[in-house]
Amino acid sequence: MLLIKNCKVLENGKAVERNIIAEGGIIQKITAPSAAKSADEIIDAKGKLAIPGLIDAHVHCREPGMTQKEDFRTAGYAAAAGGVTTILDMPNNRPATTTAWLLEEKRKLAAEKCIANYGFHFGATEGNLAEIRNAKNIASVKVFMGSSTGDLLISNEGTLDSIMGTGKRIAVHAEDEAMLKANEKSQGAGTWTAERHLEARNKMVAASAASLAITAAKRKNARMHLCHISTAEETELMAKFRRNMNLSCEVTPHHLFLPVEDAAKLGTMAKVNPPLRRKEDVAALWNALNSGTIDMVATDHAPHLLEEKSSDEPPSGMPGLETMLPLLLDAMNRGRLSMQQVISLTSANPARVFGIQSRGHIAEGYFADITLIDLKKEKTVRNDELQTKCKWSAFEGWKLKGTVASTIINGRLAYDGSQVIDEHKGNEAMFG
Ligand code: DOR
Ligand code: ZN
Ligand code: ZN
Repeated sequence: MLLIKNCKVLENGKAVERNIIAEGGIIQKITAPSAAKSADEIIDAKGKLAIPGLIDAHVHCREPGMTQKEDFRTAGYAAAAGGVTTILDMPNNRPATTTAWLLEEKRKLAAEKCIANYGFHFGATEGNLAEIRNAKNIASVKVFMGSSTGDLLISNEGTLDSIMGTGKRIAVHAEDEAMLKANEKSQGAGTWTAERHLEARNKMVAASAASLAITAAKRKNARMHLCHISTAEETELMAKFRRNMNLSCEVTPHHLFLPVEDAAKLGTMAKVNPPLRRKEDVAALWNALNSGTIDMVATDHAPHLLEEKSSDEPPSGMPGLETMLPLLLDAMNRGRLSMQQVISLTSANPARVFGIQSRGHIAEGYFADITLIDLKKEKTVRNDELQTKCKWSAFEGWKLKGTVASTIINGRLAYDGSQVIDEHKGNEAMFG
């Protein structure tokens, strides 16, 4: 039995003192502090706030095939250090996760190595409809409408329609491949700059693909999740269509916290797809976050080595698992979000949208996935303290108020505020 004593939990918007008792990885009782009993293991939270462990719906763990960048061991460590207890892994591996057999192989790797709980998005190709239909216990089928890291791409509208008709939840990377290739062609060759990237993958590239995907989803009555929205136009599409469709979306921390105007000093570290946007789009994302138009914050944790990022053809993507919660807590401390919003956006809503069973809430009968946070403590992001294999962050040097004090995964301590504890592996998330 595990007893977490002297913690606070948010109940009806108010922090109340509680003890949490877990047995076999499941929360058995949430009691008033006076009812504390002895237990095999006691974690004294010393008054810290306990929030549901974060569920990050968008993580590139890179295994198999790109394990120089990350693997299930280091991704799990980065998750634990970031207060994230469940990660939903993306399929753009080498080889991409596009068959039942490849998914099984990946399952084995994660089960062996990952200390966080995990689930899988399945990759869509122009020719794997039968595999999609047969895929078991997946978070979604991921459709890349524009090319990015890896070789997954759906450019045929007929195929998109068929995929939308499979009855699975469809997660979409919405960038229009034809438009972005035409833009790149008219730019001609040249070294990478943030401005050129923004021009090639401009707002219309994202908005027109998002619109096309939503139209296809509507036609097929599909459940659709729009990944990493980055433009005012996408927030408008979401606001318009989410009312009468099964439509959800996510935003990344980098699109919320790094307007392109501020990213010049980051060089190619700031190269991501979709690109960092201008301040007016960032403002629209914050408005959408506050009005409930955006369901969740998800990292799009996409590690690449610094030497890869500084090559002639830098890959797109940046890590995010360890900085998402501190960034959101810092924003909360500045009055930009409420604590309840932080919780909904990072645990309750991803659990609801993806139908994850028995996770995403601190409640009796749920898994004891709990993150203890220190709302007042400040910590500066330091590359050399990161757990991700790539060992860098675009937020290096940022002093953030609000830190992860401990991460408890399935009732076991996985991070104690400074060290990762690799004694138990995570479970596969079950999708209802
Ligand atoms: O910036 C990105 N990186 N965007 C993507 O769509 C893929 C990701 C990656 O896997 O590196
Ligand atoms: Zn993407
Ligand atoms: Zn991604």
